[in-house]
Amino acid sequence: MIKLDNLTRIAEGKTKIVYANPEDKSTVYLFFKDDITAGDGIKHDVIPGKAALDWQVNRDCFEYLNRVGVKTHYISSPQERVILVKKLDRKIDLEVVSRRIAAGSIMKWRGDEEGTRFDPVITQFHYKDDPLHDPMLDDRYVDYLIEAKGANEYTAMRKMNGEILVHLERALAQFGVQLVDLKLEYGIIADEVHLIDEISGGSFRLWPYQRENPDLSQPNVLSELNPDGRLDKDTYRMGGNFAEVLLKFEDIVKITSGFKNLSNTTAADDT
Ligand SMILES: Nc1ncnc2c1ncn2[C@@H]1O[C@H](COP(=O)(O)OP(=O)(O)OP(=O)(O)O)[C@@H](O)[C@H]1O
Ligand SMILES: [Mg+2]
Repeated sequence: MIKLDNLTRIAEGKTKIVYANPEDKSTVYLFFKDDITAGDGIKHDVIPGKAALDWQVNRDCFEYLNRVGVKTHYISSPQERVILVKKLDRKIDLEVVSRRIAAGSIMKWRGDEEGTRFDPVITQFHYKDDPLHDPMLDDRYVDYLIEAKGANEYTAMRKMNGEILVHLERALAQFGVQLVDLKLEYGIIADEVHLIDEISGGSFRLWPYQRENPDLSQPNVLSELNPDGRLDKDTYRMGGNFAEVLLKFEDIVKITSGFKNLSNTTAADDT
């Protein structure tokens, strides 16, 4: 049993606390809190039981991604609500968003109709700053940084984020659920870009299929999916009560707990 109270607290964010690992300075423990936030921290609650569910989803997703060869900070989940991860050498203050299906803010700022399917997926960078509402970086400017300044981290993050979306999309499809979009964070460990932070109900949108074998080849797939059956944090954003939010997050756990039975060949096929 790890006694977190005896460890040095390095940092605390909205949903996790970082603790030093006295036995290995190259790793840290992350502790999941029951706090849930939306609207860049404007909406905030504590839902007892939420952290344990996030922790399980996080474990299943990261263990799956490690298995299929994605570079991540994740090492293990030694006890409930606690994970052991490789310590960041450098944090990258960006959220990297990839979208397969149009939902949420992109409909407002870009005018895409809900359900529009993007292939290849769209990937964009947002500067992490709650008071500024995580402003998005212009794609052309990112391209300029890569070409003129050799900012290779962006190339790596773009590629990794798109690949991770496809890996998770393929896994979730086995359970009749569409991964709509995904928001992830990255950092530098041993000079290489790694996926860091967490993957849980607040990291993505998940819409169940409307029917078995949906036709997802159309330009708009809204009729093939069931947004009202959403399993993700939108339930909370849209005002769902705590019990509803917990039930949805439990449904995600039921699904991701099946990831360990997926064959690696299925997952590795998609390069
Ligand atoms: N591998 C890692 N090594 C060290 N710190 C990490 C690692 N992964 C995540 N963290 C840090 O854990 C902290 C707590 O995470 P949390 O998600 O609660 O933060 P937040 O409130 O969302 O905001 P922010 O990430 O901007 O600090 C963050 O500062 C994050 O950078
Ligand atoms: Mg966070």
